[in-house]
Amino acid sequence: MAVQTVATTPVTPVDLGPAAALSCRECGERFELGPIFACSSCFGPLEVAYDLPAEDPEALRARIEAGPENIWRYAPLLPVPADVAGKPNLNPGFTKLVKADNLARELGVTGGLFVKDDSGNPTHSFKDRVVAIAVEAARAFGFTTLSCSSTGNLAGAVGAAAARAGFRSCVFIPHDLEQGKVVMAAVYGGELVGIEGNYDDVNRFCSELIGDPLGEGWGFVNVNLRPYYGEGSKTLAYEICEQLGWRLPDQIVIPIASGSQLTKIDKGLQELIKLGLVEDRPYKIFGAQAEGCSPVSAAFKAGHDVVRPVKPDTIAKSLAIGNPADGPYVLDIARRTGGAVEDVTDAEIVDSIKLLARTEGIFAETAGGVTVGVTRKLLEAGLLDPALTTVVLNTGDGLKTLDAVAPTSGPTATIRPSLDAFRDAGLAH
Ligand SMILES: Cc1ncc(COP(=O)(O)O)c(C=O)c1O
Ligand SMILES: [Zn+2]
Repeated sequence: MAVQTVATTPVTPVDLGPAAALSCRECGERFELGPIFACSSCFGPLEVAYDLPAEDPEALRARIEAGPENIWRYAPLLPVPADVAGKPNLNPGFTKLVKADNLARELGVTGGLFVKDDSGNPTHSFKDRVVAIAVEAARAFGFTTLSCSSTGNLAGAVGAAAARAGFRSCVFIPHDLEQGKVVMAAVYGGELVGIEGNYDDVNRFCSELIGDPLGEGWGFVNVNLRPYYGEGSKTLAYEICEQLGWRLPDQIVIPIASGSQLTKIDKGLQELIKLGLVEDRPYKIFGAQAEGCSPVSAAFKAGHDVVRPVKPDTIAKSLAIGNPADGPYVLDIARRTGGAVEDVTDAEIVDSIKLLARTEGIFAETAGGVTVGVTRKLLEAGLLDPALTTVVLNTGDGLKTLDAVAPTSGPTATIRPSLDAFRDAGLAH
């Protein structure tokens, strides 16, 4: 097969906790755990298959609740060794699930509206979750360099995790990202390479690098370690349910770039049901894109099963993947659960960032503006039910995308330091 990348120093046996094998999402063929990501029979994507704990749900819940306040409380459900919490890593997760009553009032939601605020992670995006799992796989397979193709947040998360865990890092981004993302990716001291092109060009370049001796011994978290990396997003599903009192939400609104996060949140919810940790009842998954990069939303609305690639042009650069690898799976999940995929304009993204900030004191990056904007649009269209429990993801921090709101967010007035000047400015209430 063309896609296998072998680590320099294979370590056997691989201890990734309950992870038993990799299995093909398309044909179900199983493979030994390793740094591979595509099925050698049908080229379908591989995902982690588990021997999940056959444990009384009450006991498992208690074990999880007694764990650390980060993603490692869910180690029994993740491809990580049992002693993971003691290893050097950034310990992301267990971010706030904010009951957003002010926003709910503004949007007319009566069934309970929550914002899962993942800007609270160590490098201020949900990417710390996926990278933490990929780091454990990289350790197990003997890689010494961590790499990725990134729309910005992932590059920062890899740089930071590599610094902490003692890996070399070399990450690749489109050359024209926001300053906040570039600085965050560079400050941890690894190599950062800007590629003259968009994310899809960066990703193509990384796929070439992986098949070349130049990339030998490199763990690309979202390419050859992708099956493990993706599992990190399941922790969002686990946390949301645990924070709701071990209850499934009725509706979740999730941003889409490659679509990995959305598909793995669904996988996480399914696992919780299977393990008896939550009641088995329906939930709906909604995907959110920016209009300037909305290939999945377009396919959903057209009733297509395939996603036609687009050239991205949006301020939501973290979501600017024109050829999303998991697009078809997102379509399946949205349709199977009775959800939808919708998109919003750049102007609506900016408005929505400000709406969330004004109502809840949460400053979201553009991806959060996308989910809040799509939530509003889906409520107006009657596709989201205002009487049901709804969770909206904010996956990143507004400080990294200041440009989006800077032109319309400045001082109310600039005055001389005198009471008269303040009175004259008309701001005294
Ligand atoms: C802030 C933020 N939210 C959401 C996503 C979507 O991730 P995925 O590629 O898993 O769909 C990204 C991806 O870069 C991101 O940076
Ligand atoms: Zn296959």
